[in-house]
Amino acid sequence: MSRKGIILAGGHGTRLYPATRAVSKQLMPVYDKPMVYYPLSTLMLAGLRDVLIISTPRDLSIFQALLGDGAQLGMSFSFQAQTEARGIADALVIGSEFLDDDASALILGDNIFYGHGLSGVLKTAACAHPATVFAYRVKNPGAYGVIELNAEGDPVEIVEKPSQPRSNLAVTGLYFYPPNAPEVAGSLRPSARGELEITDLNRWYLERGSLRVECLTRGQAWLDAGTHESLVAAAKFIETIEKRQGLKISCIEEVAYHMGFITREQLAGLVHDMPASSYGDYLRMLLEENELT
Ligand code: DAU
Repeated sequence: MSRKGIILAGGHGTRLYPATRAVSKQLMPVYDKPMVYYPLSTLMLAGLRDVLIISTPRDLSIFQALLGDGAQLGMSFSFQAQTEARGIADALVIGSEFLDDDASALILGDNIFYGHGLSGVLKTAACAHPATVFAYRVKNPGAYGVIELNAEGDPVEIVEKPSQPRSNLAVTGLYFYPPNAPEVAGSLRPSARGELEITDLNRWYLERGSLRVECLTRGQAWLDAGTHESLVAAAKFIETIEKRQGLKISCIEEVAYHMGFITREQLAGLVHDMPASSYGDYLRMLLEENELT
């Protein structure tokens, strides 16, 4: 089964104003790299090489300037605009031609995933036929889509931002869908706020018994970076782990090499083009380490 990725990186980022008045939220740095690197690396770790980036007409050219056509990472990037914030499920409608009847993985451009065993979980979801969502225990579930599981761990209900959450399990912004998702998303009725709700799409699969829920563990981190506080918290988290280990989180060049998308020679080319910075130094170190092994 062939599967393509979609990163939804639109919206107005109003919660980060004035920082986002002229620049997309998903281009803001989270410690040492642009925010969009994190969801991009998550799709890469799932083994996806063909990715559509959706953003506002204003910001799309900056994403293009940042990421190029993907060939440097052994990938292929496409870009499409979302003219109005018509909802997260709208990304599948926009992406329907790009997907061309393939399965998909949709990720929000401000979602950061990290932790033990994540690559395996992602690869499993990429090979699964039903839709898959990822649940994560949080203290404030009411701020998210919330999923309730029965004693067997099967989903029984999914609700968007409930005032009285029936579980602590938030639905994260990473969704794996079968090929019919654009068609189903297009058939949804917009919600009271005028959006195609991703929770309605997930409920469609749940009601048909074809929604897999993968619970991320306490050894894994899921962060979003949509407010000033959560952006700083995410940056501090990344800084702490990276400084302690001397390894970078979501370094897309490293992930491309690790996944076998590019050769050592191609990595050397990327290192050569990277100006001196701690990020560039890290790539140089990677290259030298791989010379020894
Ligand atoms: O982060 C996970 C949560 O994301 C889920 O638990 C919720 O079920 C889901 O609805 C969503 O909740 P948010 O409150 O974070 O949704 P928000 O409208 O803020 O959109 C999330 C991101 O997607 C945001 O960075 C902007 C982008 N976006 C959103 C919409 C509605 C777009 O690019 N286009 C859109 O039309």
